[in-house]
Amino acid sequence: MESDFLIIGSGIAGLSFALKCAKLGTVILVTKKRDVDTATNLAQGGIAAVLNKDDSVDSHINDTLISGAGLCDKAIVNLVVTDGPDRIKELVQIGVDFVKDEESSSGYSLGKEGGHSHRRVAHANDLTGREIEHALLDKARSNERITLLEEHIAIDLLMAESNGNGRCFGAYVMEGGVVTPYVAKVTALCSGGVGKVYLYTTNPDIATGDGLAMAFRAGAEMENMEFVQFHPTCLYHPQEKNFLISEAVRGEGGILIGADNVPFMEKYDPRGDLATRDTVARAIDKELKETGEDCVYLDISSKERTFLEKRFPTIFGRCLSRGIDISKQPIPVVPAAHYMCGGVRTDKNGKSSVPGLFALGETASTGLHGGNRLASNSLLEAVVFADRAAAYCSKHWSEIKSIEIPAIDSWKSGKARKMSEEILINHNWDVIRRTMWNYVGIVRSRNRLELAQKRMAVIYD
Ligand code: SIN
Repeated sequence: MESDFLIIGSGIAGLSFALKCAKLGTVILVTKKRDVDTATNLAQGGIAAVLNKDDSVDSHINDTLISGAGLCDKAIVNLVVTDGPDRIKELVQIGVDFVKDEESSSGYSLGKEGGHSHRRVAHANDLTGREIEHALLDKARSNERITLLEEHIAIDLLMAESNGNGRCFGAYVMEGGVVTPYVAKVTALCSGGVGKVYLYTTNPDIATGDGLAMAFRAGAEMENMEFVQFHPTCLYHPQEKNFLISEAVRGEGGILIGADNVPFMEKYDPRGDLATRDTVARAIDKELKETGEDCVYLDISSKERTFLEKRFPTIFGRCLSRGIDISKQPIPVVPAAHYMCGGVRTDKNGKSSVPGLFALGETASTGLHGGNRLASNSLLEAVVFADRAAAYCSKHWSEIKSIEIPAIDSWKSGKARKMSEEILINHNWDVIRRTMWNYVGIVRSRNRLELAQKRMAVIYD
């Protein structure tokens, strides 16, 4: 298989990059399940940008830097925040229908989330990710230069020599048990994060860190892999696996309370329930450890039922289907692994340290998020860097286009062999997820990390 661009992943980063690169050449986009099985599709809150007149670029920059705990790259924060409003306009042109509000200076209804000092989160109620995913997918499906392949799993990057240096020329892709080299001049990892290495996560099942692992094996520089963000509020219910209760609920007045009905966030941070995510998740962890309870509660019952049904239709409906009327009762919640702030280190154009390889979206570590991503900055980062990477490819297109593709080896499975009992894979996965949750979770110690390392070494072996 051969194309100018090979894109791995069909979330906001992969689709945005595909649509722009299709202006330059042919694009193959592979995704390991269905095209909508992405973290983007599950995103509830929205996309942050300076849109209202009472907001400012400086304020969004400042909030991002505070949330990132002193570890953001200021130049990157500046660049992303400044570019935000233009990228939102572009999404609207593509067909994304953000909720409007005639009374706001931007014309949009803007939400607020933890760590934001202004209302600046453009949303489609609590289905923002789905709205964006579907608009981008519709465009990509109807673009004849884009071939979108579902149930195609990239398993390793295709590395070969070019002018005396190692370069990425695509990936080995498996479909129905057969591995085929997919050769390309430009390869982009847009394969999301690692939530599924944890027992509890808000992520979809596809978030198994494949892209990060492939980049690591190819020798790409990685950074900040310890900065796994835990979302404070995932629905706690025996029949629910990964249902998020958006931070926008706290933005609209939701209050975290213990089993004793007493609010506790003021004890931990003067910003109270709208403190940044790391602070809130740690506070809940502490409350749970001290009280021995299984969950805390998020109370939004101060709001009218009609408001809640309209603003949070998915959350309202899902909770009601589990017997929780959020206009009358508090929602049981626990923290869960949510977002990889680190990843494949990239420059300001989304390029990794491996020639020919870009990383975009959650797979990348651009320097925007620092130690803790500000809520709703991730969709923004994905569109800004997809745009920059495409602009870079456009600027250097004649040079990229002229690169000769060397002879490519067919797939060799090395020491891999078929396991006699498939169930062993599930057992190992279960051990990994429990070990990560118990020993590499929200609050960590050297002792626990060393224990985890020993257990992982056995599984790796
Ligand atoms: C949320 O809606 O709380 C998630 C938003 C995000 O992860 O940025």
